[in-house]
Amino acid sequence: MSSKPVVLIAEELSPATVDALGPDFEIRHCSGADRAELLPAIADVDAILIRSATKVDAEAIAAAKKLKVVARAGVGLDNVDVAASTKAGVMVVNAPTSNIVTAAELACGLLVATARHIPQANAALKNGEWKRSRYTGVELAEKTLGVVGLGRIGALVAQRMSGFGMKVVAYDPYIQPARAAQMGVKVLSLDELLEVSDFITVHLPKTPETVGLIGDEALRKVKPSVRIVNAARGGIVDEEALYAALKEGRVAGAGLDVYAKEPCTDSPLFEFDQVVATPHLGASTDEAQEKAGIAVARSVRLALAGELVPDA
Ligand code: NAD
Ligand code: MLT
Repeated sequence: MSSKPVVLIAEELSPATVDALGPDFEIRHCSGADRAELLPAIADVDAILIRSATKVDAEAIAAAKKLKVVARAGVGLDNVDVAASTKAGVMVVNAPTSNIVTAAELACGLLVATARHIPQANAALKNGEWKRSRYTGVELAEKTLGVVGLGRIGALVAQRMSGFGMKVVAYDPYIQPARAAQMGVKVLSLDELLEVSDFITVHLPKTPETVGLIGDEALRKVKPSVRIVNAARGGIVDEEALYAALKEGRVAGAGLDVYAKEPCTDSPLFEFDQVVATPHLGASTDEAQEKAGIAVARSVRLALAGELVPDA
């Protein structure tokens, strides 16, 4: 029996993670998305490393008798019950900047894809169809991009899409107006943003306030030509309301990377040709996964050594 502290890796992480942990730990693996595997596996470990598919909720925390650290190799902490962890004396760490460039690049890709129908045209051509007029798109230049949530990723998207000649507006009640002005972004109310935007991209955390924020009421205020991208968290854009808006021609297209329930392979939204969908790929680049893995491995090492864990 090893006397080393045990680190449970509950999702697929970059090999750099194990390298960065070094030889001082016993490494175990499990499939964290499978509760029947997770609950017994977490019982006697000192740390658990996860991405977004593993729910470390109050039940998992209660089952984890020796747990000292939950390490989230990425940004969002909506799959971790931070309050229950803190109450149980378990530290929660994440890697808040590891994948922001990668996630911003995917959101920009979805904006371009929804404007120009690139995935649909690619699929049609590979199916033997040369349909040039069917895939006529719209330009991004001179159009208004509404960024909902001008935090780390929203700001990177704003900066990059300004390079396409887009006018950028944002809704974020917590952003300093001076910081937005520095970025050349005009801050508006949500209603104003919904009314003026040709494209909307969502970059909010998933919280009780943000779930359904872009719902039926909001989608009745947008231009019918609007394209909406959600590469933040499923449910912030209400899927039923988006379905109705697409069906009724009140929204022209959508780019989705995240879903209310994941994995999601059979959404009614997939019936629309004008919906471009990716399977939660926002953080999936070699670079981001390496950065996230190394950052959380370092935090786990420090935490299990009883040292201060600085903000990443
Ligand atoms: P961030 O904390 O830097 O920015 C979030 C912004 O939202 C902040 O500026 C905050 O002021 C604003 N905000 C919070 N509550 C709000 C509200 N009720 N109304 C309006 N604005 C509000 O976060 P980030 O790093 O930019 O991440 C944004 C989102 O992207 C998160 O949900 C994160 O989990 C997600 N994400 C997804 C992927 C992916 O794989 N698709 C990858 C990385 C991050
Ligand atoms: C995140 O919040 O970092 C992302 O959802 C990426 C992920 O962990 O897959």
